[in-house]
Amino acid sequence: MQQSFASLGPQGRWRRVVIMAAVPISFIILILAFGSSYVPESKFGASSQYPVQSSNVSIDDTNMSMATVIKALYTPILHPVDAPTFTDEDGDTYHLPAGEPRFKQKLGKKVLILDIDSRPLTGEGQLMNKDLKWKGMRALSAGMLSHYMFAMIHGYDYKFIRAPDYEDRWGTWVKVPMMKEALKTHDYIVFMDSDVMFHYPHLPLEWLLNYWNMTKDTLAMMSIDPDEPQNYDAKGNRYLNTGFVIAQKSQRTQEMYKAWAECPTENKYKGCSRWKLDWAHEQAAFGNYLRYDYDRPEDIKVLPCVEANGAPEAEHRGGCKGIFVRHYWINKGLLAKSMADSVMQYFVPRLHQLYLQSANEHIENMKDYRISNAELIPLTEEEKATAKKGKNQKDEGW
Ligand SMILES: *[C@@H]1O[C@H](CO)[C@@H](O)[C@H](O)[C@H]1NC(C)=O
Ligand SMILES: *[C@@H]1O[C@H](CO)[C@@H](O)[C@H](O)[C@H]1NC(C)=O
Ligand SMILES: *[C@@H]1O[C@H](CO)[C@@H](O)[C@H](O)[C@H]1NC(C)=O
Repeated sequence: MQQSFASLGPQGRWRRVVIMAAVPISFIILILAFGSSYVPESKFGASSQYPVQSSNVSIDDTNMSMATVIKALYTPILHPVDAPTFTDEDGDTYHLPAGEPRFKQKLGKKVLILDIDSRPLTGEGQLMNKDLKWKGMRALSAGMLSHYMFAMIHGYDYKFIRAPDYEDRWGTWVKVPMMKEALKTHDYIVFMDSDVMFHYPHLPLEWLLNYWNMTKDTLAMMSIDPDEPQNYDAKGNRYLNTGFVIAQKSQRTQEMYKAWAECPTENKYKGCSRWKLDWAHEQAAFGNYLRYDYDRPEDIKVLPCVEANGAPEAEHRGGCKGIFVRHYWINKGLLAKSMADSVMQYFVPRLHQLYLQSANEHIENMKDYRISNAELIPLTEEEKATAKKGKNQKDEGW
């Protein structure tokens, strides 16, 4: 039986309820419209709500390939990799730890954004179906497309690995050997289940690596799971969620992944064969054995649930609201909306900026008239001077 990587998340499997509540926001259409009418701007006014970073971007407006559209939308506002702070959409500011940040340059193709799936995904609304549309798109397609987009925005490599299945293990186990292979070709890999997304695509991975302090000795970073009974290992420690993994290439990382993939053979870890098929599979193997074997202080960085797990809708589940990285085990039906967020939070300020910039072309001021039934009567200078406000529409909050 083949398994979805998105149902990997422990809660995903815990409550396997996939609600396909597609949110029909037609932002794709907006993007297309944007493609033909977008006027390239290289200057961004200081009053823009867009998270402004000054940069000179020249966009060839005769070339409206999708790559150009993505570039046009994101490049002007990419967050610097070593910026001391990042302010999120709620106005909360996050500071890099004191000291010199390790990453000051973009890592480009040294980073691999990785999707892994063993299924064909050619069904209606699925990623490999060539007629994929926004309406009816399956949730996990949104996740994988957003991974691809994130890689394009920052110039990282992206790969979708069609994985073979183990004959005797739960499908999700294949991500272990697949990540191991990827760590032979790339210095850093970011594996995400297809229900995981970066919430701020303009925030580079390098900034997060600085923020989470990925050192030269770090093997991998994973987020802790919510404080709930099913998320505890045999020793009483909470599992790390293997749905979002940042790993760094090294000899020791290869050894760890080898030991992990071989865990169920029990050559090294007695009792591990149980996790071939029992929940939480490779995650339980990592939690019960590997993390105790790879326990140098820098080996495994545990990321806070609030920052790298869950989603705002899951905040009541141990505060796991996914500030930087969202994991929609709470409701995969929210993935499409989340993808829309990752475009619209940038698109709308730009559209609005254009609206105001070209206001003289389309905002007409009729306030110098008064209305008498069907007639518009120009105000005299006297009337203007003493103009009373007419009865106004109320702001009802919409
Ligand atoms: C943008 O380009 C102009 C003109 O080439 C240059 O004077 C300015 O310093 C550049 N700004 C940045 C932020 O690179
Ligand atoms: C259009 O832009 C894309 C992405 O920037 C680039 O790869 C391609 O070569 C461009 N094509 C032309 C005709 O300029
Ligand atoms: C990152 O972690 C290392 C090892 O724990 C520590 O020595 C260093 O000070 C940390 N760096 C920052 C910027 O916090």
